[in-house]
Amino acid sequence: MLKGKRILVTGVSTQASIGFAVAREVQLAGGEVLLTTFGRMRRITERSARALPEPVDVLELDVNRPEDFDALAADLETRWGSLDGAVHAVAFAPGDAIGGRFLDTPAESAAVAFKTSAVSLNSLARALLPLFNRGGAIVGLDFDARVAWPAYDWMGVAKAALESVNRYLARDLGALGIRSNLVAAGPLRTMAASAIPGFSGLADLWQLRAPLAWDADDPQPVAKVVALLLSDWTSGVTGEIVHVDGGAHAMGAELDPVAANRMRETLLASANGSIEPAPDRAEHAPT
Ligand SMILES: NC(=O)c1ccc[n+]([C@@H]2O[C@H](COP(=O)([O-])OP(=O)(O)OC[C@H]3O[C@@H](n4cnc5c(N)ncnc54)[C@H](O)[C@@H]3O)[C@@H](O)[C@H]2O)c1
Repeated sequence: MLKGKRILVTGVSTQASIGFAVAREVQLAGGEVLLTTFGRMRRITERSARALPEPVDVLELDVNRPEDFDALAADLETRWGSLDGAVHAVAFAPGDAIGGRFLDTPAESAAVAFKTSAVSLNSLARALLPLFNRGGAIVGLDFDARVAWPAYDWMGVAKAALESVNRYLARDLGALGIRSNLVAAGPLRTMAASAIPGFSGLADLWQLRAPLAWDADDPQPVAKVVALLLSDWTSGVTGEIVHVDGGAHAMGAELDPVAANRMRETLLASANGSIEPAPDRAEHAPT
């Protein structure tokens, strides 16, 4: 699906990073990958880079340093000459901007979350623009920002901005054949997630909301859709937000596990053994 495509993946730290799963899927689909890291993360990212099916190089990118974008673009120009895709998997909010102190967050901390997690998508697109000389695809990682979540606070506001940046990039880059899309993932246990107090509550909520089983330790379903959006199969898709969250975004309330199991039993009985049963929801319900 990605044979011959050259893809830059940002935001890889540990092997639990969504970016790591994306880099892996891109390689398995035949694409070539380079990773970026920043500052003190380098050793961790390099260890992850060696664990990919094909070990890859790690370039420097702190999204808050304009000079890093210049150096990155120059390095990619020398190595590859052109680029087919870029993955934005970067987010950060200071401790006082998440975790339930929304009303008291200093404006400076909210601004750091906004700049690092939303403005950076625009900065990445602008820096890489000259390399997308045969069209291309930019894909970012989102957490559904239509609603307010427990603890997510100013990161939620930053994600709402990211969704808007995505739409404006789609508007401005479409004429060059460059697409911009987001994948809104369900909760996944990564380093960024563990920095959010109350994250486990969100993961528990998903067990009640998602009609499909949701495994917060498996970023592969998310990574596969990112890979799809990087491919020519989605050549007509831009400005889009694809939810890969087990369907939780489409539900207006938690599912009643008892009613869901009753429905499951009824459907299985009417199918007369011709369909493989999905896991019992009650087994996944939080205690
Ligand atoms: N984990 C989840 O539940 C979840 C759900 C939806 C969306 N996301 C999004 O997925 C993306 C990847 O996060 P993750 O969950 O894989 O966590 P992660 O901690 O593995 O990745 C976040 C990355 O951001 C990088 N980063 C932070 N500040 C940076 C800066 N100034 N410059 C460059 N890089 C910087 C970190 O080094 C790290 O590699 C983020 O945008 C996150 O908001 C995560």
